[in-house]
Amino acid sequence: MIITLNSPLDMHLHLRDDEMLKVVAPLSAKTFAGGIIMPNLVPPVTTLKALKEYKQRILDTIDDENFDPLMTLFFKNDYSYEFLKEAKEYIGAIKLYPSGITTNSQGGVSSLDIASLKETFEAMSELEIPLCVHGETNGFVMDREAEFGDVYESFATHFPKLKIIMEHITTKHSVSLLEKYDNLYATITLHHLYITLDDVAGGMLNPHLFCKPIAKRPEDKEALLKAALSAHPKVMFGSDSAPHPTHKKECCGCAAGVFTAPIALQALTQLFEEHNALDNLQAFVSDNAQRIYNYKPLEKKVTLEKISYLVPQTYSNITPMFASEELKWSVKSVL
Ligand code: NCD
Ligand code: ZN
Repeated sequence: MIITLNSPLDMHLHLRDDEMLKVVAPLSAKTFAGGIIMPNLVPPVTTLKALKEYKQRILDTIDDENFDPLMTLFFKNDYSYEFLKEAKEYIGAIKLYPSGITTNSQGGVSSLDIASLKETFEAMSELEIPLCVHGETNGFVMDREAEFGDVYESFATHFPKLKIIMEHITTKHSVSLLEKYDNLYATITLHHLYITLDDVAGGMLNPHLFCKPIAKRPEDKEALLKAALSAHPKVMFGSDSAPHPTHKKECCGCAAGVFTAPIALQALTQLFEEHNALDNLQAFVSDNAQRIYNYKPLEKKVTLEKISYLVPQTYSNITPMFASEELKWSVKSVL
């Protein structure tokens, strides 16, 4: 059995910097045609100079491989209309993090008051710059995303022209918000389609599956699966592939993030096949994102075949999801 995917896109990707960038960027560039690159470096990407330099460092690591990094700025509520107007041609979106909510988000917003965000959100609406949001409060860990639902509803109502992307949704409730507001969209990761909290902490603790937002209940996973497998027109694949060195995962004080980029297409194909939904995979991994972002990707044809693939134990010093396990599909060719 064989399936060909056209221009797969990863609409939420952490490529990091320096040595780690050199390891992970070529792995994404191998099978994806492009993606939305997260700005949570240290320090975060908040100027056009930093953004252009970071983009160049990404391109330098992938040589002649055709991968289009769609850059993002780290949201600040003091970005002026003039700055955003100039930024627009260099960015795919702007990413908002509540302060301190996840890895390298210390400089995020400390208030979600509409008044403090209004000017920037209005400029973004007018300039048609999408807003990507890490939607978690600092409440009880299992309730953080649901609690943030009110913020999404308030953003969506106050700024009806702003395209708001609920990043890496993990709950049934977030899926339901898609139906309620025209301007709400979502990305869904690979790992949240495969796991629940049980896989992280129900038996022996698995630090490689620990991430923000934490995986939730079986009924939440079912709702995400339903949306992804039916290629709900408002959802896109975004891996949230978030590499950390193995020693920062297998320790006390484990960093949050699951590294999935190099095995994402193989594992998604397996999942969609198991649910008789292979016909919808193209929309989930590319077509929906193209429409939502109004984006024409580089051409890339990725053919997968149903031959088992042994996931490496590590990529350099990073442990991937499914390390040393067999997936049912492998990449046959990339043209
Ligand atoms: C991400 C990271 O490590 O940068 N971690 C994660 O658990 N997903 C940040 C993020 O997207 O929350
Ligand atoms: Zn992320």
